[in-house]
Amino acid sequence: MSLTKWSSNLEIGIGCIDADHKVLVSLINQVHDCSNLYEELMVLGSVLSALIEYTVYHFNREEKLQELCGYSQLEAHKTSHHNLTIQAQSFYKRYVENPADLPVAEIKGFLRNWLFNHIMIEDFAFRPACLDNKDAIAEVTAMTFMKDHAETSAPVDWGRLSVLIIDDNPNFRLLIKTVLRAVGVRNVQEAASADDGLKLLIKRPVDVVLCDWVMEGMHGAEFARRLREFDDSSLIVLVTGHAVETHREQASASGVIGFLQKPISVRSLVDVITEVLSK
Ligand SMILES: [Fe+2]
Repeated sequence: MSLTKWSSNLEIGIGCIDADHKVLVSLINQVHDCSNLYEELMVLGSVLSALIEYTVYHFNREEKLQELCGYSQLEAHKTSHHNLTIQAQSFYKRYVENPADLPVAEIKGFLRNWLFNHIMIEDFAFRPACLDNKDAIAEVTAMTFMKDHAETSAPVDWGRLSVLIIDDNPNFRLLIKTVLRAVGVRNVQEAASADDGLKLLIKRPVDVVLCDWVMEGMHGAEFARRLREFDDSSLIVLVTGHAVETHREQASASGVIGFLQKPISVRSLVDVITEVLSK
Protein backbone atom coordinates (compact mmCIF):
# COMPACT_ATOMS: atom_id res chain seq x y z
CA MET A 1 0.00 0.00 0.00
CA SER A 2 1.25 3.49 -0.88
CA LEU A 3 2.63 5.78 1.83
CA THR A 4 0.27 8.51 0.74
CA LYS A 5 -1.87 9.38 -2.25
CA TRP A 6 -1.27 12.72 -3.96
CA SER A 7 -3.93 15.16 -2.86
CA SER A 8 -4.55 18.88 -2.58
CA ASN A 9 -3.21 18.67 1.02
CA LEU A 10 0.24 18.22 -0.46
CA GLU A 11 0.00 21.21 -2.80
CA ILE A 12 1.84 24.34 -1.76
CA GLY A 13 0.16 26.34 -4.55
CA ILE A 14 3.23 26.95 -6.74
CA GLY A 15 2.62 24.97 -9.95
CA CYS A 16 6.14 23.85 -10.88
CA ILE A 17 7.04 22.88 -7.29
CA ASP A 18 3.79 20.92 -6.93
CA ALA A 19 4.45 19.16 -10.26
CA ASP A 20 7.95 18.18 -9.02
CA HIS A 21 6.55 17.00 -5.69
CA LYS A 22 3.97 14.89 -7.49
CA VAL A 23 6.79 13.08 -9.32
CA LEU A 24 8.80 12.67 -6.10
CA VAL A 25 5.82 11.38 -4.11
CA SER A 26 5.13 8.87 -6.88
CA LEU A 27 8.77 7.68 -6.79
CA ILE A 28 8.74 7.51 -2.97
CA ASN A 29 5.53 5.45 -3.10
CA GLN A 30 7.12 3.12 -5.65
CA VAL A 31 10.06 2.44 -3.33
CA HIS A 32 7.60 1.84 -0.53
CA ASP A 33 5.74 -0.71 -2.68
CA CYS A 34 8.88 -2.70 -3.58
CA SER A 35 9.55 -5.98 -1.85
CA ASN A 36 12.83 -7.80 -1.31
CA LEU A 37 12.40 -10.02 -4.35
CA TYR A 38 15.26 -9.90 -6.89
CA GLU A 39 13.11 -8.39 -9.63
CA GLU A 40 11.84 -5.76 -7.23
CA LEU A 41 15.42 -4.86 -6.33
CA MET A 42 15.95 -4.05 -10.02
CA VAL A 43 12.96 -1.71 -9.80
CA LEU A 44 14.23 -0.28 -6.52
CA GLY A 45 17.63 0.55 -8.08
CA SER A 46 15.91 2.31 -10.97
CA VAL A 47 13.62 4.25 -8.65
CA LEU A 48 16.51 5.35 -6.42
CA SER A 49 18.48 6.48 -9.44
CA ALA A 50 15.51 8.42 -10.84
CA LEU A 51 14.83 9.94 -7.41
CA ILE A 52 18.41 11.21 -7.12
CA GLU A 53 18.49 12.60 -10.67
CA TYR A 54 15.12 14.27 -10.48
CA THR A 55 15.87 15.64 -7.04
CA VAL A 56 18.95 17.51 -8.28
CA TYR A 57 16.75 19.55 -10.61
CA HIS A 58 13.97 19.94 -8.14
CA PHE A 59 16.24 21.08 -5.27
CA ASN A 60 17.98 23.59 -7.58
CA ARG A 61 14.61 24.95 -8.56
CA GLU A 62 13.37 25.25 -4.97
CA GLU A 63 16.59 26.89 -3.78
CA LYS A 64 16.57 29.36 -6.68
CA LEU A 65 12.97 30.28 -5.90
CA GLN A 66 13.77 30.81 -2.22
CA GLU A 67 16.81 32.90 -3.14
CA LEU A 68 14.81 35.09 -5.56
CA CYS A 69 12.15 35.60 -2.89
CA GLY A 70 14.66 36.40 -0.11
CA TYR A 71 13.48 33.48 2.07
CA SER A 72 15.12 33.86 5.49
CA GLN A 73 15.62 30.10 6.05
CA LEU A 74 17.32 29.44 2.70
CA GLU A 75 20.61 28.21 4.20
CA ALA A 76 18.87 25.79 6.58
CA HIS A 77 16.72 24.51 3.70
CA LYS A 78 19.83 24.01 1.55
CA THR A 79 21.41 21.99 4.37
CA SER A 80 18.31 19.85 4.57
CA HIS A 81 18.45 19.22 0.79
CA HIS A 82 22.16 18.43 1.02
CA ASN A 83 21.58 15.85 3.77
CA LEU A 84 18.74 14.17 1.85
CA THR A 85 20.92 14.00 -1.28
CA ILE A 86 23.92 12.53 0.55
CA GLN A 87 21.76 9.87 2.20
CA ALA A 88 19.98 8.93 -1.06
CA GLN A 89 23.33 8.72 -2.87
CA SER A 90 24.79 6.49 -0.18
CA PHE A 91 21.83 4.08 -0.52
CA TYR A 92 22.28 4.03 -4.30
CA LYS A 93 26.03 3.37 -3.88
CA ARG A 94 25.20 0.40 -1.64
CA TYR A 95 22.72 -0.78 -4.26
CA VAL A 96 25.37 -0.68 -7.00
CA GLU A 97 27.85 -2.56 -4.79
CA ASN A 98 25.43 -5.29 -3.79
CA PRO A 99 21.69 -5.04 -4.56
CA ALA A 100 20.85 -8.04 -2.39
CA ASP A 101 22.40 -6.33 0.66
CA LEU A 102 20.25 -3.20 0.41
CA PRO A 103 18.63 -2.09 3.71
CA VAL A 104 15.16 -1.85 2.19
CA ALA A 105 13.39 -1.12 5.50
CA GLU A 106 15.91 1.63 6.31
CA ILE A 107 15.40 3.20 2.86
CA LYS A 108 11.64 3.14 3.32
CA GLY A 109 12.05 4.90 6.70
CA PHE A 110 14.32 7.51 5.15
CA LEU A 111 11.82 8.24 2.36
CA ARG A 112 8.94 8.36 4.82
CA ASN A 113 10.87 11.06 6.71
CA TRP A 114 11.51 12.88 3.41
CA LEU A 115 7.83 12.90 2.59
CA PHE A 116 6.35 13.70 5.99
CA ASN A 117 9.06 15.96 7.44
CA HIS A 118 10.64 17.65 4.45
CA ILE A 119 7.93 18.01 1.81
CA MET A 120 5.00 18.38 4.19
CA ILE A 121 6.68 20.60 6.80
CA GLU A 122 9.88 22.29 5.59
CA ASP A 123 8.62 22.90 2.04
CA PHE A 124 5.35 24.32 3.33
CA ALA A 125 7.37 26.76 5.46
CA PHE A 126 8.76 28.65 2.43
CA ARG A 127 5.33 28.97 0.83
CA PRO A 128 4.33 32.36 2.35
CA ALA A 129 7.64 33.95 1.26
CA CYS A 130 7.24 32.86 -2.39
CA LEU A 131 3.58 32.40 -3.22
CA ASP A 132 2.91 35.92 -4.54
CA ASN A 133 6.23 36.49 -6.31
CA LYS A 134 5.07 35.87 -9.90
CA ASP A 135 8.38 36.90 -11.53
CA ALA A 136 10.38 34.47 -9.38
CA ILE A 137 7.89 31.67 -10.02
CA ALA A 138 8.03 32.32 -13.79
CA GLU A 139 11.84 32.18 -13.69
CA VAL A 140 12.02 28.85 -11.86
CA THR A 141 9.19 27.35 -13.92
CA ALA A 142 11.50 27.67 -16.93
CA MET A 143 14.09 25.41 -15.21
CA THR A 144 13.50 21.82 -16.29
CA PHE A 145 15.44 18.60 -16.59
CA MET A 146 14.72 18.46 -20.32
CA LYS A 147 15.96 21.98 -20.95
CA ASP A 148 19.33 20.96 -19.62
CA HIS A 149 19.27 17.82 -21.73
CA ALA A 150 18.29 19.69 -24.90
CA GLU A 151 21.55 21.62 -24.77
CA THR A 152 23.55 18.44 -25.33
CA SER A 153 21.29 16.43 -27.67
CA ALA A 154 19.10 16.82 -30.72
CA PRO A 155 15.80 18.35 -29.59
CA VAL A 156 12.89 15.96 -29.11
CA ASP A 157 9.32 17.21 -28.93
CA TRP A 158 8.51 15.25 -25.75
CA GLY A 159 4.97 16.61 -25.53
CA ARG A 160 4.04 15.06 -28.91
CA LEU A 161 5.81 11.75 -28.42
CA SER A 162 3.81 8.52 -28.03
CA VAL A 163 5.33 5.64 -26.07
CA LEU A 164 4.15 2.11 -25.29
CA ILE A 165 5.72 0.32 -22.29
CA ILE A 166 5.54 -3.48 -22.39
CA ASP A 167 6.69 -5.13 -19.16
CA ASP A 168 5.18 -7.83 -16.98
CA ASN A 169 6.28 -6.01 -13.82
CA PRO A 170 3.68 -3.37 -12.85
CA ASN A 171 6.11 -1.47 -10.60
CA PHE A 172 8.58 -1.15 -13.45
CA ARG A 173 5.86 0.07 -15.83
CA LEU A 174 4.82 2.65 -13.25
CA LEU A 175 8.39 3.85 -12.81
CA ILE A 176 8.92 4.32 -16.56
CA LYS A 177 5.57 6.07 -16.83
CA THR A 178 6.42 8.41 -13.94
CA VAL A 179 9.77 9.30 -15.49
CA LEU A 180 8.28 9.84 -18.96
CA ARG A 181 5.54 12.05 -17.55
CA ALA A 182 8.17 13.98 -15.58
CA VAL A 183 10.06 14.82 -18.77
CA GLY A 184 6.87 15.93 -20.54
CA VAL A 185 5.61 12.85 -22.44
CA ARG A 186 1.81 12.93 -22.32
CA ASN A 187 0.91 9.96 -24.51
CA VAL A 188 2.07 6.90 -22.53
CA GLN A 189 0.36 3.51 -22.87
CA GLU A 190 1.27 0.33 -21.07
CA ALA A 191 0.80 -3.39 -21.61
CA ALA A 192 1.50 -6.26 -19.20
CA SER A 193 2.39 -8.71 -21.97
CA ALA A 194 3.76 -8.73 -25.50
CA ASP A 195 0.42 -10.07 -26.69
CA ASP A 196 -1.46 -7.12 -25.15
CA GLY A 197 1.15 -4.79 -26.65
CA LEU A 198 0.54 -6.17 -30.15
CA LYS A 199 -3.22 -5.71 -29.70
CA LEU A 200 -2.68 -2.01 -28.93
CA LEU A 201 -0.18 -1.51 -31.76
CA ILE A 202 -2.39 -3.15 -34.37
CA LYS A 203 -4.94 -0.41 -33.65
CA ARG A 204 -2.40 2.41 -33.66
CA PRO A 205 1.40 2.50 -33.97
CA VAL A 206 3.41 4.60 -31.52
CA ASP A 207 6.71 6.45 -31.87
CA VAL A 208 8.64 4.28 -29.40
CA VAL A 209 7.98 0.85 -27.86
CA LEU A 210 9.95 0.09 -24.67
CA CYS A 211 9.83 -3.70 -24.49
CA ASP A 212 10.99 -5.99 -21.72
CA TRP A 213 12.90 -8.86 -23.30
CA VAL A 214 12.21 -11.82 -21.05
CA MET A 215 8.48 -12.17 -20.45
CA GLU A 216 6.13 -15.05 -19.90
CA GLY A 217 4.03 -15.93 -22.94
CA MET A 218 6.02 -14.22 -25.67
CA HIS A 219 9.73 -13.43 -25.78
CA GLY A 220 10.82 -9.95 -26.95
CA ALA A 221 12.36 -11.34 -30.15
CA GLU A 222 9.08 -12.99 -31.14
CA PHE A 223 7.21 -9.78 -30.27
CA ALA A 224 9.50 -7.69 -32.49
CA ARG A 225 9.17 -10.16 -35.39
CA ARG A 226 5.38 -10.18 -35.18
CA LEU A 227 5.18 -6.41 -34.85
CA ARG A 228 7.22 -6.00 -38.03
CA GLU A 229 4.60 -8.06 -39.95
CA PHE A 230 2.15 -5.16 -39.75
CA ASP A 231 4.05 -2.12 -38.42
CA ASP A 232 7.47 -0.94 -39.51
CA SER A 233 7.24 2.54 -38.02
CA SER A 234 7.18 1.98 -34.23
CA LEU A 235 10.77 2.11 -32.98
CA ILE A 236 11.58 -0.79 -30.66
CA VAL A 237 13.84 -0.39 -27.62
CA LEU A 238 14.81 -3.52 -25.72
CA VAL A 239 14.75 -3.09 -21.95
CA THR A 240 16.51 -5.83 -20.05
CA GLY A 241 17.84 -6.74 -16.63
CA HIS A 242 20.45 -8.95 -18.29
CA ALA A 243 23.61 -7.71 -19.99
CA VAL A 244 22.55 -6.00 -23.22
CA GLU A 245 25.29 -7.81 -25.17
CA THR A 246 23.62 -11.17 -24.44
CA HIS A 247 20.66 -10.17 -26.59
CA ARG A 248 22.13 -7.61 -29.00
CA GLU A 249 22.58 -9.82 -32.07
CA GLN A 250 19.21 -11.59 -31.88
CA ALA A 251 17.43 -8.36 -30.98
CA SER A 252 18.98 -6.35 -33.82
CA ALA A 253 18.03 -9.10 -36.29
CA SER A 254 14.43 -8.89 -34.98
CA GLY A 255 14.21 -5.15 -35.63
CA VAL A 256 15.26 -3.69 -32.27
CA ILE A 257 17.20 -0.45 -32.67
CA GLY A 258 17.72 0.70 -29.08
CA PHE A 259 18.99 -0.94 -25.90
CA LEU A 260 18.31 0.01 -22.30
CA GLN A 261 19.80 -1.80 -19.34
CA LYS A 262 17.96 -2.14 -16.01
CA PRO A 263 18.32 -0.59 -13.52
CA ILE A 264 17.50 2.41 -15.65
CA SER A 265 18.12 6.08 -14.89
CA VAL A 266 16.21 9.13 -16.11
CA ARG A 267 19.25 10.03 -18.19
CA SER A 268 19.63 6.59 -19.78
CA LEU A 269 15.92 6.48 -20.68
CA VAL A 270 15.96 9.97 -22.19
CA ASP A 271 19.19 9.23 -24.05
CA VAL A 272 17.98 5.99 -25.64
CA ILE A 273 14.73 7.59 -26.85
CA THR A 274 16.66 10.57 -28.26
CA GLU A 275 19.06 8.16 -29.95
CA VAL A 276 16.43 5.96 -31.66
CA LEU A 277 14.44 8.98 -32.84
CA SER A 278 17.55 10.38 -34.53
CA LYS A 279 18.28 7.13 -36.47
FE1 LIG B 1 12.71 21.38 -0.17
